Amino acid sequence: MQNTSWIPLFPEQASTFAWQVDALYFYLIFVSVAFSIPIIAAIFFFSMKYRAKEKYATPDEIHGSMVLETVWSIIPFVISMTIFLGGAIIYFQQYTPPDDAMEIYVVGKQWMWKVQHETGQREINELHVPVGRKIKLTMTTEDVLHDFSIPAFRTKADVVPGRYTYMWFEATKPGKYHLYCAEYCGLNHSGMGGWVYVMEQRDFDNWLSGNVSGQTPVEAGKDLFQNKLGCASCHAGGAGQRGAKLEGIFNTDVKLVGGQTVKADDQYLRNSILNPASQVVEGYQPIMPTFKGQVTEEQLNSLVAYIKSLSPGAAAPAAGAPTTAPAMSANTNSAAANKTAPTKPAANSNK
Ligand code: CUA
Repeated sequence: MQNTSWIPLFPEQASTFAWQVDALYFYLIFVSVAFSIPIIAAIFFFSMKYRAKEKYATPDEIHGSMVLETVWSIIPFVISMTIFLGGAIIYFQQYTPPDDAMEIYVVGKQWMWKVQHETGQREINELHVPVGRKIKLTMTTEDVLHDFSIPAFRTKADVVPGRYTYMWFEATKPGKYHLYCAEYCGLNHSGMGGWVYVMEQRDFDNWLSGNVSGQTPVEAGKDLFQNKLGCASCHAGGAGQRGAKLEGIFNTDVKLVGGQTVKADDQYLRNSILNPASQVVEGYQPIMPTFKGQVTEEQLNSLVAYIKSLSPGAAAPAAGAPTTAPAMSANTNSAAANKTAPTKPAANSNK
């Protein structure tokens, strides 16, 4: 890995967060050193100055000093607040993905990272992204806890079974950067890594078009929804509609049986597929069977992507949007469906 940073201990700064994280980190080191040195010096100084000259001497009584106590309360208060604020601001930025980010799905599995682009390309232990573009990763795992970590971007996030976690970044320089699993996940944890390739937009477009794209997540989800899993028989609308209406549902507030309201986000959609009886939409019967154990994490991602695509205007690109070149940007997809006729089921292609 290239290491051109001025302290060889640190990886390169290759994302928009990197300098902020480093600045806060150096500030912490500075504060630690600035306190440690005078404290150690004082220990030596006092131990010599006040060393016992006679046994059982009675020390002088000390009376309080308002000035001293105020100073040593206010200075540490200011220091700890700057640390708190610095940390909170960086944390808030890192864990609030922007709406206009390009979305990529990541599934962790002992011991590999499976990546799927919105345009259908898949990779294992590699992640190709364009430089200068906001990238949002929607992540989950098929088995145990993992943690997706890119030191050069100064960002990482746990990948948790049974739910989605998110991470976003904007790479600032083209290059090849290490990618790690940062959570001990079993025997080959240390080998669960790979590379992030940051490319100029033009090179990235070339890379995309040079890779067999297979079905996009939206297409794969549509296929599952309409054919393989038969969701459409209850959810497709019309006279036979027995399940909740899914068009336009994404990111809206949904009223549940029992009066509770939830936001129909990725997590809600996912939960409704796996535990349909737990959050039933008001006006419907709890008749949907569970799909737990019948769909893989990647199929779930696809289903969620498809349902999102039924809500144009929400973050996901609309299904059936016209596309010129295969896979040019995050906003085009689908419609290439017919070109990729003999498609394999999303679930099995990476096993
Ligand atoms: Cu996956 Cu450690």
